[in-house]
Amino acid sequence: MNTSRLILVVAGSAAIVAGCASGPSSAELDAQTTQMMHASFRDQGIAKMSRLDQDTMQKACSSDVAPSAAVEKSIMEQAQASIQWPADGKFFGDWRKGDKLAQSGRGMSWSDKSADPKGNGGSCYNCHQLDKSELSYGTIGPSLLHYGKNRGITDPNAASAQEVVKYTWSRLWNAKATVPCSSMPRFGHDKILDVAQLRDLMSLLLDPQSSVNAQ
Ligand code: HEC
Repeated sequence: MNTSRLILVVAGSAAIVAGCASGPSSAELDAQTTQMMHASFRDQGIAKMSRLDQDTMQKACSSDVAPSAAVEKSIMEQAQASIQWPADGKFFGDWRKGDKLAQSGRGMSWSDKSADPKGNGGSCYNCHQLDKSELSYGTIGPSLLHYGKNRGITDPNAASAQEVVKYTWSRLWNAKATVPCSSMPRFGHDKILDVAQLRDLMSLLLDPQSSVNAQ
């Protein structure tokens, strides 16, 4: 490299450093990112651009300033109020179907013909351990191995199990009712899974015979 080239490189680097020091503000960066995201995606099939729009909770939880205690409280209250309890009081289905849902990460893609939750999996394995036979699983969430067993559930329909049953349903419907900025999808609230699918998952988690509890 000859001297004049070297000077150019050094001058160029200095300009970049100076540029960073007086770079865009965090609000400007947010606006640029939003613009870039809108320019990069398009509506295709059931995957609509509206997926880029954050609701109040998502905005509060993805800001660079953590939400205040009052905002967190209001997120949890709204999430709690959003929970729909099974109209007939039946919380349980078939744990084997629940297991298939828990191990399936498919659905909600532009190539799906319908937005009906029936075609969706729960993706639980992506964040949770569920049973001993799994070759791999994610660890973003706590292990759910022995979820019911560890909570002393021998009969999920017993009166003594009701507190755990309601907590688990609320978790699946809208996790933000318990943890305001939870990264767990809001399966019921966002219509990712329907009531029958949630019942199957409840059985997976709480039936003493299920693959989660019996191994
Ligand atoms: C993207 C990651 C993610 C996915 C997918 C996910 N979860 Fe979670 N889950 C979490 C996290 C993180 C927690 C810990 C508490 C919190 O932050 O909400 C959690 C907590 C839970 C809890 C409460 C555990 C306890 O000990 O109180 C249950 C039950 C649960 N998840 C069930 C499920 C089921 C069933 C599925 C699939 C239908 C699922 N989760 C999918 C991230 C996830």
